Amino acid sequence: GHPQIGASFSDGVLDGMSAGAGAVLPEQEENTVSITVVGASGDLAKKKIFPALFALFYEDWLPKHFTVFGYARSKMSDEELRNMISMTLTCRIDQRENCSDKMEQFLKRCFYQSGQYNSEEGFCELARKLTEKEAGKQPNRLFYLSIPPNIFVDVVRSASRTASSPGGWTRFIVEKPFGRDYESSGELTRSLKMYLEEEQIFRIDHYLGKELVENLSVLRFSNLVFQPLWSRDYIRNVQLIFSEDFGTKGRGGYFDNYGIIRDIMQNHLLQILALFAMETPVSLAAEDIRNEKVKVLRSMRKLKLKDVVVGQYKGHTRGDKSFPAYVDDPTVPNGSVTPTFAAAALFIDNARWDGVPFLMKAGKALHTRRAEIRVQFRRVPGNLYRGNVGTDLDMATNELVLRVQPDEAIYLKINNKVPGLGMRLDSSNLNLFYSERYQREIPDAYERLLLDAIEGERRLFIRSDELDAAWAIFTPVLRELEEKRVAPELYPYGSRGPVGAHYLAANYNVRWG
Ligand code: NDP
Ligand code: BG6
Repeated sequence: GHPQIGASFSDGVLDGMSAGAGAVLPEQEENTVSITVVGASGDLAKKKIFPALFALFYEDWLPKHFTVFGYARSKMSDEELRNMISMTLTCRIDQRENCSDKMEQFLKRCFYQSGQYNSEEGFCELARKLTEKEAGKQPNRLFYLSIPPNIFVDVVRSASRTASSPGGWTRFIVEKPFGRDYESSGELTRSLKMYLEEEQIFRIDHYLGKELVENLSVLRFSNLVFQPLWSRDYIRNVQLIFSEDFGTKGRGGYFDNYGIIRDIMQNHLLQILALFAMETPVSLAAEDIRNEKVKVLRSMRKLKLKDVVVGQYKGHTRGDKSFPAYVDDPTVPNGSVTPTFAAAALFIDNARWDGVPFLMKAGKALHTRRAEIRVQFRRVPGNLYRGNVGTDLDMATNELVLRVQPDEAIYLKINNKVPGLGMRLDSSNLNLFYSERYQREIPDAYERLLLDAIEGERRLFIRSDELDAAWAIFTPVLRELEEKRVAPELYPYGSRGPVGAHYLAANYNVRWG
């Protein structure tokens, strides 16, 4: 079961007690939770949020009394919302299973309210309906801001004033982007805090909800074999790799204002880096973990232009198929120099990581889709078997790989004797493939994060000082790239990306895994 189910539903305080899925503590009987998806007509709501809520319901993780509301400007009836949601619901647990009963039960709890984002009228009406559904029970209200960032503050202002819970908790999940640099992010935080306490703000980074990212801390802190190795003494470099085998897919309008560094590196990859590199937290409590993450982020050097390579995909024809260039997207302005690929070398100036390059690589429209953490260890000093692994000494170093997606896996490259009478070594893998080891399907990141927000568990959400520290690392280089209009290296759609990434890595004696 989820370790915190029930423990923090009403007040966000954890007691570490464990109850199974669907367990309802007696005092919760009279609690309700209403989840309002603001921007319900949008892409993310349809693709991720409603399906995640249904999966939670299906597995009995949601509190007994819950209601889901969609809110947006589009005119829709409850029935139309239900139809829209039902198009994307699947039985995650077993695709073949017929879960129409469960779907029906879930859809019955879904309602819609149309309204503007900047006026209190719509939210007043929503509040009236929420109160009706709460039927005198203790009301708790969660708002999910699945809307463009320019209206975050409008919604928070109107909703917090008119639809905050009377007597229960009120929380807001805020989607990225949280600003586009240090200043605008600070401005957004200050504006949100005019209406909300920091404890009410749940800044989502969905990579933190991914199974393998959660497991990173388990791997580090519950396995003695890795603990002594986790520093500059043994680790030569760390690589954080994100690639997608498709382009901006109609999100070009959003993307062009942000670029890959803001879209993936400053948040998803940096969050993984922080979890990877932080010191041991005092406990697993959210503030203890977030304190350590902030510390490591604040120890990082500001990224310099010489340590960055940017690229942009161009059109490519393979056989009779042709793939568009980034600038072919009608929502992207002509002549855009926004990077769809970037590689960067980052450094943490503290005792543990002094001099260890943390290399990031992120790109769209590459040859494959994957997200990985690769840890390359140092050479074995005075290696007795040096001559037995061919001439390439690099071959002989250990490498630990956490494959976040797809095909979740952890594997460790070791040197091994090739069986036989001679003495020849090869590089082999000790493998933990999730699909072989565990039968259950892995939940979507949004399921974990929605559940945590309902339970008041903040461990996987971004605190404002973390966000400041993250922007401080990237803001100067982003500004320089834009001011100088640095031309991205063009790479064909579906390729391995710009060769510049290899030169950058080579500057630090690194070869990409
Ligand atoms: P959409 O562009 O689909 O917008 C969501 C809804 O907001 C729309 O259905 C529309 O509803 C309303 N809306 C759109 N544009 C405006 C506007 N200019 N002014 C007022 N209302 C508007 O966004 P997504 O669903 O794609 O994303 C929502 C949030 O999640 C964004 O912050 C995005 O950055 C983030 N995100 C999205 C991801 C994705 O894969 N889509 C991935 C990660 C984060 P209506 O017209 O009915 O009011
Ligand atoms: C989002 C980015 O945060 O993450 C998208 O805005 C990207 O550009 C997406 O496609 C990737 O998420 P996932 O979970 O599909 O790897």
